[in-house]
Amino acid sequence: MKKIKILNKNFYQPISCLTAYSPSIANILDGKIDLILVGDSLGSTLYGMKNTQGVTMDMMKNHGAVVNKVIKKSIKVLDMPYKTYENKRDAFKNAKILLDYCKPDLLKLEINKKKLVVLDHLVSKKINIISHIGVTPQSYKNFNKIKILGRSDIEKNNLLKLAKESERLGAKAVLLECVTADTAKLITDNISIPTIGIGASKYCDGQVLVFDDLINLSTHNKKTKFVKSYLNFNKIVSNAIKKYNREVKLRKFPSLKFTFN
Ligand code: KIV
Repeated sequence: MKKIKILNKNFYQPISCLTAYSPSIANILDGKIDLILVGDSLGSTLYGMKNTQGVTMDMMKNHGAVVNKVIKKSIKVLDMPYKTYENKRDAFKNAKILLDYCKPDLLKLEINKKKLVVLDHLVSKKINIISHIGVTPQSYKNFNKIKILGRSDIEKNNLLKLAKESERLGAKAVLLECVTADTAKLITDNISIPTIGIGASKYCDGQVLVFDDLINLSTHNKKTKFVKSYLNFNKIVSNAIKKYNREVKLRKFPSLKFTFN
C-alpha cells in the first residue's frame, strides 16, 4: 500500500485540506484538518476579482501571516501568487519573502512543463513545495473557459509526466485540479508522493476544498460540480440577521442584560 507522508508526518487515512484566509477561520480548522491552505483563491473568493491574476504579494503576505500565526497543529501551506515565480531568481526572492514573513511549512506553485526549472531551483534551496498541476487557475483570465483535463490520452500522459517530474525534482505533494477520475488514479498509483485533489475524484491521497464553498458562503450562485457544501451558512446567518434587525426595530435589543448601569 502507498505510504502517505508530508514532511515528517505520516497519514494513515486520506489527507484533508481546506483554505483559510482569516485567523478566525484558521483557528476553527486548526487540528481538525490536516493541511490549511492560504490559497490565492482569496482573490476571487474574498476580494471579488474575476480571476486570481490580480492577487499580489502583499495580499498573500498579509493573509498568510495572520493565518499562520494562529495555526499550531495543522500543516501550513501558502500559495505563491501569479507572476511571482516566472524565473528562478524571482521565484527564490519572492519565496524567501513569503517564507520569512508568513512562516508556512510549504509553498504551493502552479506548475507546467516550463515551470519545472523553478520547482527544481526552489527545492535545491531547501524549500518545501506542493506542485499544483491539472487546471492551474492562474493561467485563466476567465474561469468559464476552464475545462476538465485528462480526457484524451495525450493530456493524461502529459499530466502523468508532469507529476512524475514534480516528484523526481523533490516536490512534497502534487495537487491535482479538475482532472478525470482515471487520470487521478493513474497519477496517484504511479508516484510515491501524495496527490491531493480538487475536482479530481476519490482516487487521490487527499482532498482540498475552498472553505467558503464548504459552508456555502460564496457570493457566486453557480456551483461547480466538484463543490459539496456541508452547511448552508447563508441561510443560518440570514436568520440571525433578520432576528437582530427585528429586535433593533422593536427596541428589544439591547435589553437590560446588555446594558451598563
Ligand atoms: O487557491 C486555492 O485556494 C487553491 C485551491 C482551490 C486548491 O489553489
